[in-house]
Amino acid sequence: MIASLQNVVAIDGPSGAGKSSMARALAKKLEILYVDTGAMYRALGVYFHHQGFSLEDESGIAEKLSHIGFEYGCSADCLVKVNGEDLTQQIREHTASDYASRISKLEKVREYLVAFQRTLSDTRTCVVEGRDIGTVVFPQAFCKIYFTASVEVRAQRRFQQLSDKGESGLDIDKVKADIEDRDKRDMERENSPLKQASDAILFDTSDMTKDLVLDNLEKLVREKALQAQLKIG
Ligand code: DC
Repeated sequence: MIASLQNVVAIDGPSGAGKSSMARALAKKLEILYVDTGAMYRALGVYFHHQGFSLEDESGIAEKLSHIGFEYGCSADCLVKVNGEDLTQQIREHTASDYASRISKLEKVREYLVAFQRTLSDTRTCVVEGRDIGTVVFPQAFCKIYFTASVEVRAQRRFQQLSDKGESGLDIDKVKADIEDRDKRDMERENSPLKQASDAILFDTSDMTKDLVLDNLEKLVREKALQAQLKIG
């Protein structure tokens, strides 16, 4: 491996562009670790909301952060725990998206999670997915991809996902409006806004089947790994 490159496939993009399902499928195919950083922001958002904190209270949250335990990938059934509490199910509720988007604006929260995320790739190759992975967390990743899709397609996918999970009282226009709000917040925030890294390859998945996306993704990653002299599965 070329020393300056990190053993990370960095996948960024807005919500609903297909990055989670593709990143997970890619990691499975290549037999490498999949890291879902959105799940981490969701977990802290849910945890602090439940603890009665305002999600704008940066100093209160920062103070508490220095005392809590944070675990990721605890077992096959448990993705994330905060202070011993398994939040794997709760982070997938629709409200958790809003908590995550709000708490992710806080610099101290980002510092905390970025440091945690960097430790995960210390000893193994991984696919890391989020909003700032190629720009901030792993700027030297050997392969960077930016996923996007039209807001209509993303809203439809998100609506389907939530309906499949049995969430009731959903309205497609509300889901679309929430996505637009979240995009705006994620792209316009001061700390690590969502943007395509200058060396990231763009995948617009609006009109692509999952199989086609995955095939193209795998080819690209293998090619980049070869160039970086990095051995992957
Ligand atoms: O990918 P997701 O929908 O689970 O992410 C939830 C929120 O967390 C999203 O609004 C933006 C934020 N996030 C972030 O700011 N940085 C990341 N690396 C991952 C997610």
